[in-house]
Amino acid sequence: MTGSIRARRSVLYMPGINQRALEKAKSLAADSLILDLEDSVAPDSKAAARDLVCDAVKAGGYGGREVIIRINGLETDWGGDDLAAAALSGADGILIPKVGSAEALKSVAAALKAANAPDTMQIWAMLETPDGILNAKEISALAAGADVNLTCLIMGTNDLLKETRTLFVPDRFPVLAWLSMAVLAARAYGLDIIDGVYNNFSDQEGLRAECEQGRALGFDGKTLIHPAQLAICNEIFTPSDEEVSWSRKILAAFEEPENAGKGVITVDGQMVELLHAKIAERTVAIAEAIETSGQAAA
Ligand code: COA
Ligand code: MG
Repeated sequence: MTGSIRARRSVLYMPGINQRALEKAKSLAADSLILDLEDSVAPDSKAAARDLVCDAVKAGGYGGREVIIRINGLETDWGGDDLAAAALSGADGILIPKVGSAEALKSVAAALKAANAPDTMQIWAMLETPDGILNAKEISALAAGADVNLTCLIMGTNDLLKETRTLFVPDRFPVLAWLSMAVLAARAYGLDIIDGVYNNFSDQEGLRAECEQGRALGFDGKTLIHPAQLAICNEIFTPSDEEVSWSRKILAAFEEPENAGKGVITVDGQMVELLHAKIAERTVAIAEAIETSGQAAA
């Protein structure tokens, strides 16, 4: 049920209780913002954070940035109130933590409806538990139906390490299979999928390596925790000028009258098939979405 293509290169989290961050986000070069009520907010601050976040979203000022509220799970003491408040906040969507099954998201969609959320409100799902990875296919498959407006998956790599007792290592080999499983599930059902966070926000080199790895794995972007991570992430997940001009060349070549109806042609001495034209279409669409959103590489 994804609407038109949009760039989700940089998806920045901020604690919902941090008023300064909620304000600062209005001027940061992030494609999407996640205003968090869950892991980064202590139990005593949950209600205050909910009010702060919903007031900030209602007041607006976030421009073309997509605004998503991460609520607490419906099974917690706060989830129901979070959902009811987020439903009427005007946010673009809500992010559900620790999704383990399709049933869990169906309950969220039903609760949103009961809370009179607009039909356009997106549901994003975090995959961060063993169940979430094992059931990634059935969770993603909801996107094919009409009941759950699921548009995007987010990897929760910190929780995944905790739940599985795997270790953080720079090349992430312990979690690679799970990341790829999730990417496959997303692709099977036309969802966007965003990589997990890189905790050491002072380490630009490490971040760059992880962004490059995430892009190679097929992720659309990366979740971030600090403004210092935006520039590198936007750079790596933006199609390069070279990629865009090569893509335009491929599309133009297939448009030539002599190539009408052909499945394979030659461009600059290389074999190019219709499947490459499909890849090129997406590359150009993403580049154009970035250009029109006015947030070209920071
Ligand atoms: N979003 C928006 N603004 C942020 C931000 C964020 N995630 N993190 C920091 N900033 C702002 C600060 O408010 C500060 O702004 P100012 O200088 O204009 O006052 C500036 O960026 C520099 O921040 P800095 O002092 O380097 O960081 P900090 O010590 O205040 O905070 C963290 C460090 C890690 C606590 C903070 O970045 C953070 O809370 N990140 C998000 C955590 C989160 O949401 N986790 C849940 C998902 S994993
Ligand atoms: Mg988590």
